[in-house]
Amino acid sequence: MKVGVIGSGDVAKVLGSGLLKHGHDVMMGTRVSDKLSDWAKQNQKGKVGSFADAARFGELVILAVKGTVAAEALREAGATNLTGKTVIDVTNPIADAPPINGVLKFFTSLDESLMERLQREFEDVRFVKAFNSVGNASMVNPQFKEGKPTMFICGNDEAAKKTVSSIADQFGWETADMGKVEAARAIEPLCMLWCIPGFLRNDWIHVFKLVTKT
Ligand SMILES: NC(=O)c1ccc[n+]([C@@H]2O[C@H](COP(=O)([O-])OP(=O)(O)OC[C@H]3O[C@@H](n4cnc5c(N)ncnc54)[C@H](OP(=O)(O)O)[C@@H]3O)[C@@H](O)[C@H]2O)c1
Repeated sequence: MKVGVIGSGDVAKVLGSGLLKHGHDVMMGTRVSDKLSDWAKQNQKGKVGSFADAARFGELVILAVKGTVAAEALREAGATNLTGKTVIDVTNPIADAPPINGVLKFFTSLDESLMERLQREFEDVRFVKAFNSVGNASMVNPQFKEGKPTMFICGNDEAAKKTVSSIADQFGWETADMGKVEAARAIEPLCMLWCIPGFLRNDWIHVFKLVTKT
């Protein structure tokens, strides 16, 4: 697939490289192309452009920017460049205030997630929450002796979730579909839980796995 990645941080770089490794065409989007010069050297098949270039390029788009500017970045990418497209939303609504005893502060509430806000503003976009509750070091083909970890996803469009599940599958994850956009109220805070061992004990290498009775 042609994938546009809006973002230049660690998550954008890791997902961009992972997609190239799995044979996809990738364009990264940033406001400051110098930020991606090392990435471009290491990923010669990858392209770099603006947020709007990446949004236009992608059949599938990944939103990987700071949560506080997620809507702003999508506006800059251009709503018309995103209309009808699947957008994997990896953002978390982390507030600028520091964590308390290892617990991050969010700028959203349990009655309204960031993805719901984005879905309301960009109603023609098929948002799917995914990859938000794992550290970037474990996003692509992580190896854990307990087997495949679980990627919790949600979104209103079934076909879009199928597309995202197929990417998660290539990246070595099993997908657990938690339903519509409102489920982001539960999936986004998994990021808080995931970060606690990191802030308290500098332990950043772990993943969630859903165990069910077969
Ligand atoms: N770090 C992780 O391991 C991890 C894991 C799971 C989920 N997440 C989530 O994934 C997202 C990306 O995280 P990250 O650590 O890779 O990067 P980040 O530092 O949170 O975000 C960097 C990106 O934000 C953009 N940005 C910053 N200010 C902006 C503004 N005013 N307007 C438009 N864009 C702006 C930057 O754009 P430019 O390129 O133009 O500078 C850059 O692409 C976050 O929402 C984070 O919570 C992170």
